[in-house]
Amino acid sequence: MSRTGVIGGSGLYEIKGLTVKGKKNITTPYGKPSDDYLIGSMGDREIVFLPRHGKKHGIPPHMINYRANIWGFRKLGVNNIISISAVGGIRKGMNPGDIVVLDQVLDMTRNRKSTFYNGKGGVVHIDFTEPYCPDLRSMLLKAGRSARVALKKEGTYVAVDGPRLETASEIKSFAILGGDVVGMTGMPEASLAREVEICYAGISVVANFAAGISRRKLSVAEVMEAMHGATEKIKKLLAKTFSLIPETRECSCLDALKEAKI
Ligand code: HPA
Repeated sequence: MSRTGVIGGSGLYEIKGLTVKGKKNITTPYGKPSDDYLIGSMGDREIVFLPRHGKKHGIPPHMINYRANIWGFRKLGVNNIISISAVGGIRKGMNPGDIVVLDQVLDMTRNRKSTFYNGKGGVVHIDFTEPYCPDLRSMLLKAGRSARVALKKEGTYVAVDGPRLETASEIKSFAILGGDVVGMTGMPEASLAREVEICYAGISVVANFAAGISRRKLSVAEVMEAMHGATEKIKKLLAKTFSLIPETRECSCLDALKEAKI
């Protein structure tokens, strides 16, 4: 049976409504994942949950072992991942509390181990034209409509290293480049999932206006507050989405490596 993975971001260290059946401590060739994976169920779906920052939020964004996290999901037989993250809103209309189903990425990270393929076993260039699985995105949008959870249907995620927040000029330049929201964890998570042929979709909760957009100094407390405020909606959205995920996949993520190797 196929399993669905969920990666929880800041303020989301568990999924409400998940019946937990056990946990798995996994070791990978890339080191340790952020925490134990919780194995549970929601409806008739098997769910594997991982808190990205660890359940006590001890791991900052630039220290997360993204490769170990994704490898662990693969080892547990997960073939779809829904990733949840907190972001700052850049584009007008991306307001605190909004939930965005991401459709594009601008990767501004510099210091991360971003691939499983370092030359051993061939040179690999995966197609990343559409960084998020289009089928999984459609299921999230459909779930939002039927569960009556308002969603922003698209958004370009600007990934930065952090852990500092951005300058006002950085945010202005990201806006010119087409960025809609900014966060510190979306990459290389998305491309690593594609490299192991896991379908991956990202939903972001706008926690604050990005730097320079509001006059207020950014605070971590407002990020946490926005995430807590969104948990009920996220739970509803996930429960409905799980019920829409079919047993067999039809998207191109499932053979992402097919024409990618030299
Ligand atoms: N910038 C980067 N990451 C974030 C922000 C932000 O404003 N808010 C939540 N995560």
